[in-house]
Amino acid sequence: MAGRFDGKVAVITGSASGIGQSVAERLAQEGANCVIDYNGHPEQAEAARVKIVNAGGKAIVCQADVTSIPDTTRLIDVAWSELGSCDILVNNAGVEKGADFCDVTEADYDLVMNVNLKGAFFLTQSFVRKLRDAKKPGRVINISSVHEDMVFPHFQSYCASKGGMRMLMRDLAMELGPLGITVNNVAPGAVATPINKHLLETPALLDPLLRNIPLGRMGTPEEVAGLVAYLASDEASYVTGSTYVIDGGLMRNYKEQ
Ligand code: BGC
Repeated sequence: MAGRFDGKVAVITGSASGIGQSVAERLAQEGANCVIDYNGHPEQAEAARVKIVNAGGKAIVCQADVTSIPDTTRLIDVAWSELGSCDILVNNAGVEKGADFCDVTEADYDLVMNVNLKGAFFLTQSFVRKLRDAKKPGRVINISSVHEDMVFPHFQSYCASKGGMRMLMRDLAMELGPLGITVNNVAPGAVATPINKHLLETPALLDPLLRNIPLGRMGTPEEVAGLVAYLASDEASYVTGSTYVIDGGLMRNYKEQ
């Protein structure tokens, strides 16, 4: 059966684990040749690649720190030189740091803003430059968060980065529409991934959160990947400039504890 992404090349940042890994698996399952980007854990990236290849998919691994512009340029260059194109970009790499506002350090602020916002900004710039020169269309999907819109006290830098991503997406949808490049955000709520390790291990935090979610459970990375795959596919050809929330209803039911 023909896959929705046959002949397409996708770069997914932070795809050695969590949502990024599920997105790479899903796009590869449907025919995409995927570039698995990682920063610190080559063994996880290699395991993600092997899993895709064993399932009959195609993937390569590339180390790139999204906070470094030379690295983001190289990541897109690798897709073009080794796989012949780069049609889909999923800006997934993300970090969060919690602290009382008065205790936030400059180092933590810079890390969160640089990974979540600067990384997506300049990687998208490299992605778009190549497509513009090749006169090809493309898809940008940012993994944002419900916190691009919803408050998350003690995670101010995370909220600022995701709010920035929301406006970046809206702006780029306008500017890149004429190039045939669509730009959308996927805004997950609470999803069981490594970014939530502390939450998952702390019932005092987890239980009230689950009570806030109308569907009564956390989401899975696979559920998020299904939405990303839709936005990356031809079925979403008329979709640009929007955020797609996937949160079990959390955003409609948020209460301060
Ligand atoms: C954050 C999680 C949080 C969830 C729901 C996500 O963006 O990464 O830490 O639990 O939003 O609040």
